[in-house]
Amino acid sequence: MSELQVLISREQIAHRVTEMAAQITRDFAGQAVIFVGVLKGAAIFLSDLARQVPLDSTFDFIGVCSYGQQAAAATPNGGWDSTGEVRLTKDVEHSMAGKNVLLVEDILDTGLTLTYIKKILLNHQPRSLRVVALLDKPSRRQKPMQADYVGFTIPDKFVVGYGMDYAERFRNLPDICILPNPVLSSEK
Ligand code: IMP
Repeated sequence: MSELQVLISREQIAHRVTEMAAQITRDFAGQAVIFVGVLKGAAIFLSDLARQVPLDSTFDFIGVCSYGQQAAAATPNGGWDSTGEVRLTKDVEHSMAGKNVLLVEDILDTGLTLTYIKKILLNHQPRSLRVVALLDKPSRRQKPMQADYVGFTIPDKFVVGYGMDYAERFRNLPDICILPNPVLSSEK
């Protein structure tokens, strides 16, 4: 894995996650929150973030996948793009009604996933719904979507590590790294 270039180091991530947690703690002072993580990529981010938010908190998780994702893996872009249709694979387990929901996502890219998930969660009639995205790639947006809390804005590169994967690999890397095209092509 020596070919991977570090885009955001573990120290930078830790520093920014602490800042985001402090902001959330201030914004919801005296209130309870529910962290809803988007599986699987947000699991590590959620665990680091939530442990630094000293509020009355609970966790839930939601799972989605994109139609055509597997077919796209055989295409020249290495499976990055999907057909754009999102499907629910795991619903939340608790009612979000009247709760302060913090929807935690690893990366906001086209905006399709969060548009879909926000719609589902808003149907629960939460008291508030805010999006917390570790990374934002605004240049790839297809749907108008903005996160309320953004860790880092990054260029149009495919990244892995700190929970994010390519074909389920690299999630355990402690840094966020750029996966170069040669790796994408050689592993297809
Ligand atoms: P969106 O629906 O296009 O905004 O995509 C959001 C999801 O696409 C993320 O939760 C990731 O699962 C995946 N994704 C987008 N860009 C990357 C990347 O650079 N690395 C890993 N996964 C990514």
